[in-house]
Amino acid sequence: MDVVPLGPGFAAELRGVTLADVASDDAAHAAARAAFEEHSALVFRGQEVTDELQLAFSRRFGPPEVTKVGSQGTGTHFVILTTIGPDGKVVPPDHRVALRNKANQLWHTDSSFKRVPALTSILSARIIPARGGETEYVSTCLAFERLDPALRKKLENSFAWHDYAHSRSQIAPGLATPEERAALPPQCWRMVWRNPANGRGAIYLASHAYAVEGMEPAEGKKLIDELMAAATAPDTSYLHQWRSGDVVMWDNRATMHHGRPWPVNETRTIVRTTISATEADGLETMRPPSRQAAE
Ligand SMILES: [Fe+2]
Repeated sequence: MDVVPLGPGFAAELRGVTLADVASDDAAHAAARAAFEEHSALVFRGQEVTDELQLAFSRRFGPPEVTKVGSQGTGTHFVILTTIGPDGKVVPPDHRVALRNKANQLWHTDSSFKRVPALTSILSARIIPARGGETEYVSTCLAFERLDPALRKKLENSFAWHDYAHSRSQIAPGLATPEERAALPPQCWRMVWRNPANGRGAIYLASHAYAVEGMEPAEGKKLIDELMAAATAPDTSYLHQWRSGDVVMWDNRATMHHGRPWPVNETRTIVRTTISATEADGLETMRPPSRQAAE
């Protein structure tokens, strides 16, 4: 297996290894896991992906999420992100599906609004537009290391609130349905996620974050906005241009990502599996102290 660096200080392509190898071979999995901890985003090219293979690969990294209400694939282990509506045609730009794609264009990490946040997301390209529709990544680990020591120390002991309805409301009021709001109450997480495998800290934020515990709302929002801007500073990203057969997995503890737009009349279908974080991934350290004993 060759590890070929792709981005500015993070992200790498794994060559000479397939999803099937990682799914079935302990040594291949161990090597991929080590590369994941070190590089935060991994690209596999030229894969022959089926749902079953994607899930078998994904399960190697931990327990798969069950898709939430309101997403295509609800109740399964797959999130189907597609612009094809129930009638088989590409949806119009004001359709809920298109608005949700737009929400995906805000910088975020997946599942920070869930009771159990995600370790990793695995995305496979099934149908891709001729141009556009890239996914852009930044390392919140490198961003954390760029901050001054006093701010780093402050963040280590700060906690932010994350709410799915908050990120959706930035696109359209009511984009998060009452059913989704009921299923996804706000969650509070430490603002730094320290990776137990290597001890490195990363800013843990997303478009879902709206408040900092113990800070005035405006002051907390300002801190979040400043950190989001610092984490997504120019020339710090890896832009993934999708090709058929691509699979990308990333560390939701140490990156943020967003989708880029593509021509509205073009089809795009990608399938995501998401693996929940466990105690071995540092989950317990992320809870506010008052909740660590309770949950
Ligand atoms: Fe995402």
